[in-house]
Amino acid sequence: MVPTLIKDILVSEPDGKNITVCGWVRTVRDSKNLVFIQVNDGSCFANIQLTFDRNNPSDNANTDSIEAELKKLNTGASIRAEGLLVPSPASGQAVEVTLEKLTCLGVCPPEEYPLQKNKMSMEYLRENAHLRARTNTFGAVYRMRNQMAFAVHSFFQERGFQYINAPEITCSDCEGAGEMFQVTTLSMEKIAEMGVKAGLGGMKIKDAHKIVDYSKDFFGKKANLTVSGQLEAETLATALSRVYTFGPTFRAENSNTPRHLAEFWMIEPEMAFFTLEDDMDIQEEFIKYLLNWALTKCREDLEFFNKRIQPGLIEMLEHVVNSKFKRISYTDAIAELEKHADKFEFKPYWGCDIATEHERYLTEQIFKCPVMVYNYPKEIKSFYMKLNEDGKTVRAVDVLVPGIGEIIGGSEREENYDKLLAACKERNMDMSNYEWYLDLRRFGTVPHAGFGLGFERLIRYVTGMENIRDVIPYPRAPKLADF
Ligand code: 4AD
Ligand code: MG
Repeated sequence: MVPTLIKDILVSEPDGKNITVCGWVRTVRDSKNLVFIQVNDGSCFANIQLTFDRNNPSDNANTDSIEAELKKLNTGASIRAEGLLVPSPASGQAVEVTLEKLTCLGVCPPEEYPLQKNKMSMEYLRENAHLRARTNTFGAVYRMRNQMAFAVHSFFQERGFQYINAPEITCSDCEGAGEMFQVTTLSMEKIAEMGVKAGLGGMKIKDAHKIVDYSKDFFGKKANLTVSGQLEAETLATALSRVYTFGPTFRAENSNTPRHLAEFWMIEPEMAFFTLEDDMDIQEEFIKYLLNWALTKCREDLEFFNKRIQPGLIEMLEHVVNSKFKRISYTDAIAELEKHADKFEFKPYWGCDIATEHERYLTEQIFKCPVMVYNYPKEIKSFYMKLNEDGKTVRAVDVLVPGIGEIIGGSEREENYDKLLAACKERNMDMSNYEWYLDLRRFGTVPHAGFGLGFERLIRYVTGMENIRDVIPYPRAPKLADF
């Protein structure tokens, strides 16, 4: 019989009906006549309690067999149990299961089990990432990830957006920051061999790149893992009107920080006929929708985060849902920061990139709420952003939130062919890979806008987890690709 999930058992009527439970043992308490087993199957935070009363076993209980199986149980062992669902006399739980049948499916030797220690550090659990989903913290994190993914689809589907898939392998560089992982089937060893041979023939260092012939590579040209699905999303938005991607993106930034991953998931909506203001409106609506979903549909896990991970988390999320985000131009934001220049390692000035310390100061000290900074100097933003009439700033927006910093980056796109081409030329881009992108401006161009939300930054925000490496099952970062 397929077992009933513990989350469903816990809300069932305790009418003495027969029930099958499967899961992993959290604790076994065996005191003379009474045995209590706490079992968790990850379907919810709470455990179900199985009880076995030696003095008063259930009529159908196979007591000898139960005793034999009990001897095999330790924390981490997997079991299948059958019994009767009854009201629980213990406080904190409405129901429990009176054991009739018990099978240990897999033993778990305590002296070897990595999750035996009482207080395990996040670093230790990261090294044991294949088992950490069995802890309270990571079970809750992964359930929250699941709920937030569902909420993302729900938000866009309710609003007439179509879910699309951008390629993972591409020859374009959306962000132009050169942080790409190359995808190749050329053998590095072969190329090195050729270099050594050519070197023997008196080849100069500056000619070394000629040894690599990309026409012989799998795709016939230099290809990489995508840093963003935006450019391709634009091609579909200028046909389907409102679209969104939700998939993995890759950045070879050498950033060892609690907010950067080399592989992260991004949600990128793209909307035809939207201005920057429309873009900002839907960003604010989107974030509030997601936080509200967490508050209403993930209550049990959220209460755990609130108690154990970030005290005050629930109140903070409730406050954000009910407050208006601050919108401020880059120029005004810099002026604000300059008033507090003594607080920063990097002194802010007009034209500088807004650093993490500035982002946090704006949201945590000055405005104490999410802040949308818009109209950035064109030099510090990407080629595709729409130029303002001042000729100096572009219609970009970053959403900054307390504790996290940047959570969203977005913009209105340059829909004018000549201006877009000029922006590409200023950046010395190789246009052979972007002709298709320019075509959107040649044929039926429209104003349009979009944004990217970093999924793991969102999960950090709603769980209070400190390190981004602890909100994705298997984090990828510099020198880290285990599992
Ligand atoms: O600001 P970014 O680079 O914007 C884009 O990629 C645009 N193409 C989005 C668009 O307009 N369609 O990245 C968007 C978001 C950031 O705000 C951040 O939340 C997240 O992606 N992000 C990262 N998350 C984890 N690790 C990294 N290394 C990240 N880099 C960006
Ligand atoms: Mg950004």
